[in-house]
Amino acid sequence: MEINKQLKSHGSWIGKWTFVLAASGSAVGLGNIWGFPYKAGTNGGSAFVLIYLACILMIGLPIMISEIVIGRRAGNSPVNAMRRIAIDSNTTSLWRFVGWSGILAGVLILSFYSVIAGICLNYIFISATSLGLMSSPDQFAKVISSPFNLLFWHTIFMIFTALIVSAGIKDGIGRMVKILMPMLGLLMIFMVMYAMINGDFDKAIKFLFAPDFSNVTSDTLLQAMGQAFFSLGLGMGSIMAYGAYMAKDQDIVSNSVSVASLDTMVAILAGIAIFPIIFAFNLEPNSGPGLVFVSMLSAFNQMQFGQFIGPLFFVLLSIAALSSSISLLEPGVAYLSEEGILSRRKSAGMISLIAWILGIGSALSFNAWSDFKFISDRNFLDSIEFITNQLLLPLGGMFIAIFVGWFMKKSLIKDEIGEINPILFGLWLFFIKYIAPTGVALVIFFQFFPI
Ligand code: PHE
Repeated sequence: MEINKQLKSHGSWIGKWTFVLAASGSAVGLGNIWGFPYKAGTNGGSAFVLIYLACILMIGLPIMISEIVIGRRAGNSPVNAMRRIAIDSNTTSLWRFVGWSGILAGVLILSFYSVIAGICLNYIFISATSLGLMSSPDQFAKVISSPFNLLFWHTIFMIFTALIVSAGIKDGIGRMVKILMPMLGLLMIFMVMYAMINGDFDKAIKFLFAPDFSNVTSDTLLQAMGQAFFSLGLGMGSIMAYGAYMAKDQDIVSNSVSVASLDTMVAILAGIAIFPIIFAFNLEPNSGPGLVFVSMLSAFNQMQFGQFIGPLFFVLLSIAALSSSISLLEPGVAYLSEEGILSRRKSAGMISLIAWILGIGSALSFNAWSDFKFISDRNFLDSIEFITNQLLLPLGGMFIAIFVGWFMKKSLIKDEIGEINPILFGLWLFFIKYIAPTGVALVIFFQFFPI
């Protein structure tokens, strides 16, 4: 049978911590530091934050465990992993389309991700050389007004991503994240302390955490859920692909809890680092995608040694982005190379080229195309983001939950999860079978038929 053909192996992670580091590298990225604060800012703050936390706990974490269970059981790229486990569970191999939708989502996300990450690269140099020459909102306006500038940095970032993925992920990325993730953590703590001392901390905490649900609409729900999927990197096979390289003696549940907690912590810390500064300088919390660039640059503008700390911050932000972007490319590359269709290098080159071309549209949405609307009143970048974060990822996650909850053989699941408290296992299964799928379905339903 076709499924028995020999698929190329990708090797596995070396070392006890490498999976957690790589998976956290995938999860922690622009979504946490760039996306979370500005989305919280444009969606009324605390209501968004609380719904986001609920989505992480009730939908995100159970789905993350499911993805790793499938990935590690099969040891293949998501397309073949879904197909193989479906066949082993005596159900239709059409489940492989969940893997395909993941590859599509990965390419689409990578296309705009690389444009934003390119702005981070650009800011390394801006914060080192032109601090204080211009106000930080003007500086951001200048950066995004030039299509050539955005495309230049988009190209550089995409080349980095393609190079790392084509080299294979084991040695390079494993080693890289071990040093850089702790550094990112330390820097975040420094920025939080700076903001606490120099910013309007009380107002920021109120803005982020005081429960106020008066402004919640169906769109807030969808955005918060989309952000939870995006931030954990779920619903498109990244974590499933990484799970395939995980050693059998590692515990899936505790690893997932570590990754999800770390990811959530970084997002919250980013909010606590940014909003006090925003309020102290009377900037608007709802200013959109420029938030992190404007607020951080204005902080570096004022602080002593800002021209050293600034570049360091943007270097780390770029690296956080890079450790995520490689995981966006990996599912597609793993598929093409394990099938022997193209070498790993050629696959990485080809898929990143497609993402690069699509990214041009996102770069133009900041300037030449800013008036073109694609999906309702969204520009090109926002439309791609809407399709991926708010539709493809949640739907992908929903199908993964349905597959594991209702179709995958329980003996296979138990094999992978290993020794676990039966109550905890029952709880997880309950969330996967009922809560996660209905949660996603309801939120999407209300998006199209708002109440
Ligand atoms: N989680 C990453 C971030 O927050 C982005 C990502 C999405 C990575 C989907 C992998 C899969 O920036």
